[in-house]
Amino acid sequence: MSKTTIYVCNGKNCKEDDSKKTRNAFRNLVEEQGLDNKILVDSCNCMGKCGKGPVVRVEPVGLRAKYIAPKKCSAFLESLLAGTLEKEFDAKKKKD
Ligand code: FES
Repeated sequence: MSKTTIYVCNGKNCKEDDSKKTRNAFRNLVEEQGLDNKILVDSCNCMGKCGKGPVVRVEPVGLRAKYIAPKKCSAFLESLLAGTLEKEFDAKKKKD
């Protein structure tokens, strides 16, 4: 079974939205929770959703998410593991 990969956009606009902090938050959570054998966190190029960052893509499930600020990562990861995320997830529509 292939690993789930969380790609955090590293494009110019998402960088301005602190995507590096989001990537680090995901990496820390994965390590803390011992999920290294299941989940990989990587960066990717612009996904064309600029201004809605940090933008995240999860493969191989084909999920896309926007406005994933570092404080949203924990709940996002929990929902991802539970399989309850929508394919087009918008963190602005969810409470913290
Ligand atoms: S820079 Fe992230 S979607 Fe464009």
